[in-house]
Amino acid sequence: MKTRFWINFVLVVTVVCMPGCKKKTPTPEEPEVKETRLMSAEKESFGQTSDGRQIDLYTLTNTNGLRARIMNYGAILVSLEVPDRDGNIADITLGFDALDGYLKEHPYFGAIVGRYANRIGKGRFVLDGTEYKLAANNGENHLHGGIKGFDKVVWKLDDIRAEGAPRTEDSKAIVKMSYISEDGEEGYPGNMACTVTYTLTEDNELKISYEAETDKTTVVNLTNHSYFNLAGQGTGDVLGHELTLNADKYTPVDEGLIPTGEIRSVKDSPMDFTMGMSIGSRIKQVGDGYDHNYVLNSSPDLSLALAARVYEPTSGRVMEIYTTEPGVQLYTGNFLDGSLTGKAGKVYKKHYAFCLETQHFPDSPNKPNFPSAVLLPGQKYTSVTVHKFSTR
Ligand code: BGC
Repeated sequence: MKTRFWINFVLVVTVVCMPGCKKKTPTPEEPEVKETRLMSAEKESFGQTSDGRQIDLYTLTNTNGLRARIMNYGAILVSLEVPDRDGNIADITLGFDALDGYLKEHPYFGAIVGRYANRIGKGRFVLDGTEYKLAANNGENHLHGGIKGFDKVVWKLDDIRAEGAPRTEDSKAIVKMSYISEDGEEGYPGNMACTVTYTLTEDNELKISYEAETDKTTVVNLTNHSYFNLAGQGTGDVLGHELTLNADKYTPVDEGLIPTGEIRSVKDSPMDFTMGMSIGSRIKQVGDGYDHNYVLNSSPDLSLALAARVYEPTSGRVMEIYTTEPGVQLYTGNFLDGSLTGKAGKVYKKHYAFCLETQHFPDSPNKPNFPSAVLLPGQKYTSVTVHKFSTR
């Protein structure tokens, strides 16, 4: 009886107090306290695959309003919310509201791509005298790991945590996932164990770190394939975004988008983004748009260095990309054709987003003059890319 009284008492006090506390009108001496955001890392269900595998959504939030949502299907970055210069928050990545959209055919929205991101000419390469044949899923070439690449597998959750929560200067929200790619999967040699870790910091950085190990000599090239529009996803094309690339050279390609092997200067060509230019300023001179690998000035020194800076003038959002990779693929959504409807009912048309995929160069397994993408047993592959957000 006594216990019941106390339960009722507590409930009544809570109900009466809660709305009262929220609606408290601030006095001039006591300014309104804005909603307090805490560094957090949370997990919830996002549905199931057609064969009944559980898919979860991991939400990393920092105290400045940045929020990254990631799932264990394809280790996909589902959304990335970032404030503009007035503090208005928008999701700046293309994708879908529900799992369903990701289970159908789509152009790698937000996905982790592997075992080899980008193209391998004629879907074949030779390692230690043995020829390996991969799926030709892009004309006669192999693209983004094959028919069922790392973007279409269910990753295992290894860790999810908020360090230094609710708030310290170096608080971080972290989610780490792993996947074991078996020997022969999609034609690649060796059992390869890999991990991907997404970390959101108080410095408004989203860091993506990769590690891999193999039991047989193989090739590896992992990247994240997010489609960005810094004005907000689905709001229009990205031709007005200003892009600076820390790259004096690029790798010209043939008609199948396979590098010819030449490393060419960008000087005096529409490929030059060293000084910062709008994406659209010379895009008509490059056929359907940009779909090229740039040789970063830091290449092949694999320490973290600035690769790109993108500024969107209407929102003021700035994204800088730092990477340990020697190259970056600039892809301007040339094959988006209005046939996909994504988040919030937005239709994705040509050039509605750009991708900056940090990577080893395309077709490296067949190009001895490119930085090697070979991984030997006993070696550890590591790769780090940081997306840093600010406004101006
Ligand atoms: C490639 C494009 C391709 C796109 C989507 C990019 O990484 O460079 O050629 O169409 O991915 O698959």
